[in-house]
Amino acid sequence: MQYKRTLLITGGAGFIGSHVVRLMVNKYPDYRIINLDKLTYAGNLANLKDIEQAPNYLFVREDICDYERIREVLREYEVDGIIHLAAESHVDRSIRDPFTFAKTNVLGTLSLLQAAREVWEARPEKYEGKRFYHISTDEVYGTLDFDGALFTETCKYDPHSPYSASKASSDHFVRAYHDTYGMPTLVTNCSNNYGPYQFPEKLIPLFINNIRHGKPLPVYGKGENVRDWLYVVDHARAIDLIFHEGRTAETYNIGGFNEWKNIDLIKVLIATVDRLLGNPEGHSLPLITYVTDRAGHDLRYAIDSTKLHKELGWEPSLQFEEGVELTVRWYLENQDWLDSITSGAYETYYEQMYQGR
Ligand code: NAD
Ligand code: TYD
Repeated sequence: MQYKRTLLITGGAGFIGSHVVRLMVNKYPDYRIINLDKLTYAGNLANLKDIEQAPNYLFVREDICDYERIREVLREYEVDGIIHLAAESHVDRSIRDPFTFAKTNVLGTLSLLQAAREVWEARPEKYEGKRFYHISTDEVYGTLDFDGALFTETCKYDPHSPYSASKASSDHFVRAYHDTYGMPTLVTNCSNNYGPYQFPEKLIPLFINNIRHGKPLPVYGKGENVRDWLYVVDHARAIDLIFHEGRTAETYNIGGFNEWKNIDLIKVLIATVDRLLGNPEGHSLPLITYVTDRAGHDLRYAIDSTKLHKELGWEPSLQFEEGVELTVRWYLENQDWLDSITSGAYETYYEQMYQGR
């Protein structure tokens, strides 16, 4: 079949990437969607079981740091759009192992940019009809106080963790490729995502799983840090819209104006899990365990997504209450998915399947 476009989505076996791949595969049967993923501990093809047989979907196991292989893939499939999500994404891991974050997030992004540059510049039409869309985070802006201020697109970068420092650096490289080589790039900075298929090291899936199993809930510090939560499908919808209609070289913030103090959010999770499991009210509250704070723990993140709303009309489709209900139900109903991760079984399976790659 002659496809209208070929999109390469990196990190498509991860949490947000799997929702983006699913949306694109289903919504655009005339696009070829290539999911390029290294399958690190965070990549799991079970996240895409429902679409893996779709005729317009292709999975390629590669490392974004392997610049020559990436160049071959871009050339072979005549990729004209890249949506780049592959990254190391967990702050606590970045504190323990910053080099891996610099390698994947900074050098990996650079190798993808350079491979795209070489392949696209070699074509007669050069950058015409091309797009390099880089997915970033609000964490690059640093931290806010409790004064009601929000992160806008013009806030200066002020990252504090090795994770956010590596993402900030990759954002700068993407903009540099636009300014220096004329590559048609885009960057978006999104707030914390939640929803199905999130790796259970992040707050929401970890705590849902622990509540279910009666395990302690390790709350960092006093639980007073604030995060701005967005349902992952709404992020994927925003990515689709911005990829197709966003202005080249622009930055858009994505967020749902939905701030929660960690401890309040944790109480909502406890109430929801207890209700759905038929436990008496307050049953799991004693699981809350205050632990040593995360080093360099940013106090508050809050995104101003007015620009995206005004320019492209995007707004979240779900109220937070509905999103939490859907999310908790999903994890409770998909215990096998959680178990396969917490037991490590899925990694062994991939190692056998892709021996030698
Ligand atoms: P994730 O950790 O769930 O998934 C990352 C994916 O990238 C995995 O499938 C992994 O196998 C793949 N990957 C890692 N290193 C790779 C490499 N070297 N080559 C190829 N693939 C590799 O992450 P996520 O939460 O889905 O985040 C996706 C993107 O969105 C990241 O860039 C992250 O910075 C950004 N982001 C995340 C959030 C959030 O709340 N999770 C919020 C804003 C922005
Ligand atoms: P996390 O899901 O790791 O996302 P991020 O660090 O990117 O915001 O954490 C969300 C918030 O929850 C953050 O303030 C740290 C806190 N947290 C805990 O209190 N305990 C935990 O076990 C985890 C994983 C996070």
